Amino acid sequence: MLQITDLTFNAWGRKFLVDASVSLPPGAKVGLVGRNGIGKSTLFKLILGELHAAGDEISLPKTARIGSVDQEHPATPVSVIDTILEADVERHTLLGRLETAPPEEMGEIWARLIEIDADAAPARAAEILVGLGFDQENQARPMSEFSGGWRMRVALAAALFAEPDMLLLDEPTNYLDLEGALWLEARLKKYPHTALIISHDREMLNEVCTHILHLANHTLTLYTGNYDAFEKARAEKARLQLSAKAKQDAERAHLQSFVDRFKAKASKAAQAQSRMKRLEKMQPVATTIEERVAPFTLPSPPRPLAPPLIRLERANVGYDTGKPILRNLNLRMDLDDRIGLLGVNGAGKSTFAKMIAGALNVSEGELHRDKKMRVGWFHQHQIEAMDPTDTPLEIIRRAMPDAPESARRSKLAQFGLGYEKQETTVDSLSGGERARLLLNMVAMDAPHVLILDEPTNHLDIDSRRALLDALNDYTGAVILITHDRSLMEMVADRLWLAADGTVKPYDGDMEDYAKFVLDRAKAAISKPSQIKKEEAAAAPAQNNKGKKNDKKSGPSPSTLRHAVKKAEENMTRLTAEISRIDDDMATASVNNPKALEGLTRARAKTEADLATAEAAWVAAEEALAEVAG
Ligand SMILES: Nc1ncnc2c1ncn2[C@@H]1O[C@H](COP(=O)(O)OP(=O)(O)OP(=O)(O)O)[C@@H](O)[C@H]1O
Ligand SMILES: [Mg+2]
Repeated sequence: MLQITDLTFNAWGRKFLVDASVSLPPGAKVGLVGRNGIGKSTLFKLILGELHAAGDEISLPKTARIGSVDQEHPATPVSVIDTILEADVERHTLLGRLETAPPEEMGEIWARLIEIDADAAPARAAEILVGLGFDQENQARPMSEFSGGWRMRVALAAALFAEPDMLLLDEPTNYLDLEGALWLEARLKKYPHTALIISHDREMLNEVCTHILHLANHTLTLYTGNYDAFEKARAEKARLQLSAKAKQDAERAHLQSFVDRFKAKASKAAQAQSRMKRLEKMQPVATTIEERVAPFTLPSPPRPLAPPLIRLERANVGYDTGKPILRNLNLRMDLDDRIGLLGVNGAGKSTFAKMIAGALNVSEGELHRDKKMRVGWFHQHQIEAMDPTDTPLEIIRRAMPDAPESARRSKLAQFGLGYEKQETTVDSLSGGERARLLLNMVAMDAPHVLILDEPTNHLDIDSRRALLDALNDYTGAVILITHDRSLMEMVADRLWLAADGTVKPYDGDMEDYAKFVLDRAKAAISKPSQIKKEEAAAAPAQNNKGKKNDKKSGPSPSTLRHAVKKAEENMTRLTAEISRIDDDMATASVNNPKALEGLTRARAKTEADLATAEAAWVAAEEALAEVAG
């Protein structure tokens, strides 16, 4: 579908690609991965023709339509649903011609409209919009009533609706909540054409992708399979390269010592000469191992406060005008609590965070909160609110007014922004570079509570792991909002759910929640459109079948079978995780002994999780055997 041949691209004083070639098979769902700042978004610009390399090294079939999410998404008076419908340019044009075309052309226009199934378009558009969080009422509202983030969703919906032959998505989950991300995963899996998706979201890359395209060392490498398969293949490649390199190094040393010993001896001069030639001819084995990413610095609070950190009793909270957003909050948070906060956008998660951060007071009830409590609050609006002409150096100057310049620069370097990026303006920094800067700055004064609202957006996968390591070392409390399921599972000890105007502890785990969200989305889609009558009719019958086997007391066999299956899935996932960590350990020990420490910790935690999953599996199997007699 897409063919790139010997593509070389240099810009801003840097090499991005050198003779990169790749061919994407039609229909493939390809995940484009690589470090923050390596040039993924830049590659998209090259494919879209917004940037140009020297020749025409990028080609697509002549008739292929290419589509991406517009970064411009104006606040027009057009309704959301019509904005989407207009994205299908052909349909929109045909409908327009119906009004003005002479009668003899009408037949042809109608024939084409029927051919492209134009009647079904509104239902299809509505289905996409519901999946991305717009209920029917919101679909009819004008674009101008929505925030930038929501208009990005409309742009994404429009791209999906237009169904181009080559769909380009640059970190699409960044402006979605978990609910939207889950829906998008399911949708992309079924996407009828080729898609190239930049993502740092392991879950997404595993669920959706048939191929992984890796951008590293100025070149593009295509791997078949999903992200887990890619990591395995890459670790194996690195292992082979390292052992080949070790062998070569040994041979080189051997030849060199021969040359050194005998080059002065006339009787051996000829052999020494020939060995010298062999030495010169030796091609160094390429090692494609990338440097480790810079770690995150999350300094722990110096002195613990008296517990509990936060206590809420029958508290209501809202803004000055109007009704409370959240009611009847009865919650408690302790010094080292790790809380995962769930809920769709608009459920009040940000209001809740604002209250914990001390920027919003309760209007009724009680909020106990230590006056000395420091809160570090990271959220996406901070990234959006950055002045595009600012530079990292200016920003750190303001944060460390009394420090010498060298200390500020080394602070930035410690954050992972090397010297060459310290004076790059914000609008030219990559998404990941901006996020890294802000995250580190939020935690700079060792807060007692870290509120991280979608902290991994824009961060590459290795940086996410670095953040996880830093969170494990951090001793303060954490409130985490993220659509990254694996991060949530690794960090949160408890889950709270924001829904129906309040925040309450949530009983299930992340998988329960994911299932609940998907079921609800399905219900929302089939209700208004009523297209899937047959499916709906089939559903209750299936339920009855299940019920027949139910015993009066205790969990039903189907529940237990589900539990067994879930435990098995967990075991598979955790086992894979352990072997991945092992692979990493094999390479880390050579590169960076420090990283080993983090990996060892991660391995211990994963092993403990595996033991828990195994215990759950045994328990469910036993119960199942009992129920089945
Ligand atoms: N106009 C520019 N001037 C200077 N540097 C730039 C400019 N545009 C991009 N860069 C630099 O080029 C590099 C690649 O940027 P790009 O946005 O393609 O990265 P990316 O791989 O998409 O990263 P991320 O995963 O963080 O989104 C970054 O280091 C960025 O700072
Ligand atoms: Mg990018």
